[in-house]
Amino acid sequence: MSTAPLNQLAEVDYRPSTPRSYAPKIGLIGCGGITHQHLRAYRAAGFHVAALCDVRIERAHERAQEFFPQAVVTDDYQQLLRDDSIEVIDVATHPGERVPLIESAILAGKHVLSQKPFVLDLDAGQRLVDLADKHSTVLAVNQNGRWAPHFSFARVAAENGLLGDVFAAHLGCHWDHSWVAGTEFEKIEHLVLYDYAIHWFDIVRCFFSHRPVRRVFASTARVPRQTLMPPLMAQALIEFDEGQATLAFDAGVVHGPFDQTFVAGTDGSLLSQGPSIQSQQLTVTTAAGEVSPTLAGSWFPDGFHGTMGELLCSIEERRPCTIDARDNLESLALCFAAIASADSGQPITPGSIRKLPE
Ligand SMILES: NC(=O)c1ccc[n+]([C@@H]2O[C@H](COP(=O)([O-])OP(=O)(O)OC[C@H]3O[C@@H](n4cnc5c(N)ncnc54)[C@H](O)[C@@H]3O)[C@@H](O)[C@H]2O)c1
Repeated sequence: MSTAPLNQLAEVDYRPSTPRSYAPKIGLIGCGGITHQHLRAYRAAGFHVAALCDVRIERAHERAQEFFPQAVVTDDYQQLLRDDSIEVIDVATHPGERVPLIESAILAGKHVLSQKPFVLDLDAGQRLVDLADKHSTVLAVNQNGRWAPHFSFARVAAENGLLGDVFAAHLGCHWDHSWVAGTEFEKIEHLVLYDYAIHWFDIVRCFFSHRPVRRVFASTARVPRQTLMPPLMAQALIEFDEGQATLAFDAGVVHGPFDQTFVAGTDGSLLSQGPSIQSQQLTVTTAAGEVSPTLAGSWFPDGFHGTMGELLCSIEERRPCTIDARDNLESLALCFAAIASADSGQPITPGSIRKLPE
C-alpha cells in the first residue's frame, strides 16, 4: 500500500468536464421545476439547447425566454425526435411517464440523459439499456450528485485509490424537506428512500468502486407532529464484502441543518461537513498529513454540468459513459431493496426486488 502524497490529494480533478469540440444540439423534454437548474448549468457550460418541450407549453416558453431564447418551443416531443440535427435528448419528466419517451428517443437514434430515479421497474430499465445498445446510442442517468463538489472529490479520490481500499462510508443528512407540501412529491410514499436517497445509494456504490452489495437493512419513521404523508426519516445499513456503509436521513430538521460524509480507506479518511449539501468543508487525512481543499462550485447547478458534460465527453472520446443506465440499475436495485427492507423489517439482497415496492 502506498500513501498518496498530499499534492496528489490537493490536485484531485473533481470539476465537471466539457467536451473539447463536440457541441451537439440538445432537446429538453419536460420543463418542470428542476430544469431551471439544468438550463442554468447548460448555459454556463456553453451547451447548445436547441429545443424545449412540455405538454404545458407555457412552461417551455418560460424556460426558453430565460435561458435559450433561440430554442424551438413545442408541446409535442415527437417534433424534437424528428429533427435530425438534434443528437441529444434530456428527459426531465417524472419516472412514470419516462419509459415511452426514452424508448422513442432511442428508436429515433438520439443519445439520452434521463432524470433520476431512472425507472420504476428494473426489467423495464434493462430493456431500455438493451435497446440503446442495439441502436448504438448512449443512455445515461442524471445522477448529478456525483458532481456535487464534495461528493465528486470523494468519488475521484476513492476511484483513484488515494484513500487505499475503502471499507467504510457513513453519511448523514439532517435538513428540512417540508417544501414538498402540496406538490407531486408529497404523494410519493417512500419520498426519502426513493426520490431523495437515490443519490446517496448511487454515490456509496462509487466510493466502494462499484463492489456488489451483499445486503441492505433499512427503516423509516415519522417526525413528531409531522403532517406530510411520507415518513420524513429513514436509515439504511449497507453490507459489502469487507465493508459497511450507513445512511441516515432526517428530513424534518428545521433548526440547525447539518450534512456529513465520512469515507474511510486503508490509506486515508475523508470527512466533509456543512450546513447543507450546497455548502461543505472537506478534509482528507493520510499518513502524510491533512489536506482541506477549498471546493469550487455547488451541487446545484454544477452537478448538471457534470452529468451532461460526462455524457457529451463520453460520446466525443468514444468511451463508456460513467453514468450509463446499466450501472444506474445497480443503484436502483439497492434503493428498491432498501425500501422493501423498510416495509418488511428484513434485510434484503439487491436485485431481488425488481419493481419499486408500492
Ligand atoms: N437530479 C436532481 O437533483 C433532481 C432534483 C429534483 C427533481 N429531480 C427529478 O426530476 C424529475 C422532474 O421533477 P420536477 O420537479 O421538474 O417535476 P415537475 O412536475 O415540476 O416537472 C415535470 C414536467 O414534465 C412535463 N411533462 C410530463 N409529461 C410530458 C411529456 N410527455 N412531454 C413533455 N413534457 C411532459 C410536465 O408537464 C411538467 O412540466 C423527477 O423525476 C424528479 O425526481 C431530480
